[in-house]
Amino acid sequence: MEKVKVGIVGLGRLGRQHAENLAYRIPNCELAAVCSVIEAEVKEAQEKWNVPYGYLKYEDMLDNKELDAIFIASPSGFHCQQIKQALEAGFHVFSEKPLGLYLEEAEEVQEVVEAHPNQVFMLGFMRRYDRSYAAAKEKIEQGHIGEPIFIRCYGLDPAAQLDSFLQFAKSNYSGGLFLDMAIHDLDLARWYLKTEPKEVWAIGGGYARSEFDEIQDAETGAAMVRFENNAMGVFLAGRNCAHGYHIETEIIGTKGSLRIGTVPERNQIVIMSETGVVQECVAGFLERFEQAYLSEVEEFVNCILENRRPSVTVEDGVESTRLGYACKKSFETKQLVDVTKDKVTFQ
Ligand code: NAI
Repeated sequence: MEKVKVGIVGLGRLGRQHAENLAYRIPNCELAAVCSVIEAEVKEAQEKWNVPYGYLKYEDMLDNKELDAIFIASPSGFHCQQIKQALEAGFHVFSEKPLGLYLEEAEEVQEVVEAHPNQVFMLGFMRRYDRSYAAAKEKIEQGHIGEPIFIRCYGLDPAAQLDSFLQFAKSNYSGGLFLDMAIHDLDLARWYLKTEPKEVWAIGGGYARSEFDEIQDAETGAAMVRFENNAMGVFLAGRNCAHGYHIETEIIGTKGSLRIGTVPERNQIVIMSETGVVQECVAGFLERFEQAYLSEVEEFVNCILENRRPSVTVEDGVESTRLGYACKKSFETKQLVDVTKDKVTFQ
């Protein structure tokens, strides 16, 4: 195979970015098919990126045996079903996060992935491919901060998009703040600390917008996690960040600490004027993680061509879903949740 022929499902905010990367920015890849339930999106994508096949039904795209791989960027509630269908139809599969909204469905997907060992499966935890996050991993592995014992993460969406997030939260497709937003940080915690979560206590509310309370979701929420090796994690997620898109991570070790993204600056410009000293903030995920979205797709395509497996595994998807789901349950029940391997139970 000289070029990997990919079909993508979901042409929304992120799907369009992935489609453009697949169509133009990866030399050994061809975007051969697009699928969405919205006809106008399919037509627009076909014209814009010169894509030969367009589908309104996912199953019809899976019947196209010219394709090698399926790329899933549909709403989160569809991921598990669409991953299983694509694997069973013989395709390599990339799926956006989260793997699933419920632990049972995520575990079912794991079984299907493991039953198809010759097909590449990759999950979109793109932060692991971001240069700064990847460099931090190397520094930790090289021992620069000793043994990591604490991780603090901020995952804050811009307040300017609060209304659209409220609609999204009401849609039933999001899985709630912790599974949708904090999931990246929960994955990073497992990756950096190399341990699994033991118990979690999550709180939050609709502080600026009480509508979030009505739908039992948090506009801003915090989770505190104890890991099996007694390391600690504090995760703040939110939809109401006044200054823009703020993704920050701090890891404290026995011999030092490191931080990523403490000032979420858009670029290196500092404007000094009568209003003060100002650095603009990055506006959203597409801008902050532009390089990571491209790098993760390159890795997926190269894994197929070189018959390798990506470092992000289906187990990472299951374990992050287990923790994200436990955060959601703790938030909803106001109880400490036991999140050890075989159970998510209340104490
Ligand atoms: P969106 O709502 O903007 O787009 C969803 C797309 O899927 C639309 O094109 C819609 O028409 C299509 N669609 C809906 N139901 C469908 C179905 N049954 N079959 C086929 N297509 C269907 O959503 P967005 O923000 O692009 O998110 C998509 C996924 O990407 C979500 O799972 C989300 O969690 C994930 N995501 C990941 C991010 C990351 O940083 N890795 C950032 C943003 C989203």
